[in-house]
Amino acid sequence: MKFHIITFGCQMNANDSDWLARALESRGWEQADDEAARVFILNTCSVREKPEQKVYSVLGRLERHLRRDPGVFAAVGGCVAQQIGAGFFERFPFVRLVVGTDAVALAPDALERLAAEPETRLALLDFLPHFSERAEPEPRPGVMGPAQAFVNIMQGCDNFCAYCIVPYVRGRQRSRRPGAVLEECRTLVERGAREITLLGQNVNSFGLDSGGEGVSFAELLRRVAAIPGLERLRFTTSHPKDLDPDVIRAFGELENLCPSLHLPLQSGSDAVLRRMGRRYDRARYLDLVEQLRAARPGLALTTDLIVGFPGETDEDFGRTLEMMGLVGFESSFSFKYSDRPGVAAARMEPKVSEEVASARLDHLQNLQNTLTKDCLEKCVGSETVVLIEGPSRKQDGGEPFWRGRDPAGRTVNVAHGGEADLSGKMISVRLVEAKKHSLIGEKAGAPW
Ligand code: SAH
Ligand code: SF4
Ligand code: F3S
Repeated sequence: MKFHIITFGCQMNANDSDWLARALESRGWEQADDEAARVFILNTCSVREKPEQKVYSVLGRLERHLRRDPGVFAAVGGCVAQQIGAGFFERFPFVRLVVGTDAVALAPDALERLAAEPETRLALLDFLPHFSERAEPEPRPGVMGPAQAFVNIMQGCDNFCAYCIVPYVRGRQRSRRPGAVLEECRTLVERGAREITLLGQNVNSFGLDSGGEGVSFAELLRRVAAIPGLERLRFTTSHPKDLDPDVIRAFGELENLCPSLHLPLQSGSDAVLRRMGRRYDRARYLDLVEQLRAARPGLALTTDLIVGFPGETDEDFGRTLEMMGLVGFESSFSFKYSDRPGVAAARMEPKVSEEVASARLDHLQNLQNTLTKDCLEKCVGSETVVLIEGPSRKQDGGEPFWRGRDPAGRTVNVAHGGEADLSGKMISVRLVEAKKHSLIGEKAGAPW
C-alpha cells in the first residue's frame, strides 16, 4: 500500500510521523508522493487557529483529488484529531481514521485493518495513564539529518498556560521510564546518531510525575550525556519556572550538552505573564539568564513570544521589546495571540485588535532581525565545528554548499566539493560571513 504523510506542528509531531512512516514500511507499505498515494495521513497541529485551518484546507484539496478514486482514503492524527475527534467523519467522508495523540502506536494496525475493510471507520482517542511505548520498529536517526535523532522523554503537559490548548490535546504530563529513554538513545548512537534532542512539552519537569521513577531531568541529562559516542545533546522545550539549579549546573559540567537553550519568555510584562499563568516574572527570567551564562559563557538563548495577548497594552508590549534587548536572543519564534477553544484566555477581555497585533508583531520581528544580525556578526572570524544535515539550498554554481549547525544551533552553509556526500559528517569551519539568518563558513580541516 502506498502512503503519504503530511506533517504540521512541533518536533514531537515530526518525530511521530517519522516513527509511523518506518512502522508502515516495516510492514511492507511504501512512501509515495502526492499523486501515487492510496492513503493520506495528516499529522496535525492545533496550537493556533492557522495550522488548524490549514488541515481543513488540505483535506478540501484532497477531497477533489480523492473523488476520482473511492479506494483512496485519509487518516487524521495529532492535536487537531484529538480536539475534533469523530467530527472529522461528518465533515470529510473520505477520512476513515482519526487517531489521537496517545494512540499513534495503534495507527499501523488500524491502517492495515482499514485498507482491508473499505466500510470501516475508526476513532482512537483515549488518553493513556502512562507514557505509551512503541515497540516496533527499532529507532534510527534521520528526522533532521543522518546523524541526528529526536527522543521523546514525556507526553502531555500540566501547566495550563492561559492561552494554550496543548494540555487539552496532549493530556496530562507522563514521564517516560529513564531506562527506556537510555536504551533508545544507546541504540540511536550505535546506529550513527551523533546528536540527540530530548523532546517534551516541558522537559524541566521530567520525573515530577510517577513515570520518571524519581530520576530528575538533570540526572537524565547526565546519564544520556555519558553514552559513549554521543557528541551533541540538546533538549526542548524548557519552562522557565521549572529550570532548576542542577540543570543550569549541567551546562557547565557536560561537555557534549550544547551551549544553547530555547527558553520561552512569551511576554516581557509582569502583568501579562501573570494573566498568562506562567508563574515567573521578568526578574526571575533575567536571573536565570545570568546563572546560565555564568555556568556556560557564550550560551545562545532563543525564545517564543506572543503579541496581542488579551489586555496587552502598548506599555506591556514595550516591556517585551525591552526584555528582548536585555537578553539578546539569538532568534525567536513570535506569534500573534490566537483564541483557542476552551482555554482560559478565550474568555479574557479586552481582545487586542488584529491591526494592533500585526503592527506589534512586525515591530518585534524587526527588532529580532537586528538582534540576530548582531549575534551572527559576532561569530564571524571564529572557528567552529559544523554537523552537516544535508545539501544547502544556497548553491552558486561553483563548489557545492552544505548546510549544518554549529554547537549553539546556528545554521552554517559551507562550500565544500571534496566528498560526494557530507551529510552526517562533522567538519571544522572558519566562519567568514553573516547572512540574515545564517552564517557562511569555509572548511578549516578534514571531516571527522
Ligand atoms: N511547551 C512549549 C511550547 C508550546 S507551543 C512551551 O511551553 O514553551 C509553542 C509556542 O506556541 C508557545 O511557546 C507559544 O509561544 C505559542 N502559542 C501557544 N498557544 C498560543 C496561542 N493560543 N496563540 C499564539 N501563540 C501560542
Ligand atoms: Fe502550553 Fe504552557 Fe504547557 Fe507549554 S507549558 S505546552 S505553553 S500549557
Ligand atoms: Fe502543535 Fe500539538 Fe505540537 S498543538 S505545537 S503539534 S503539541
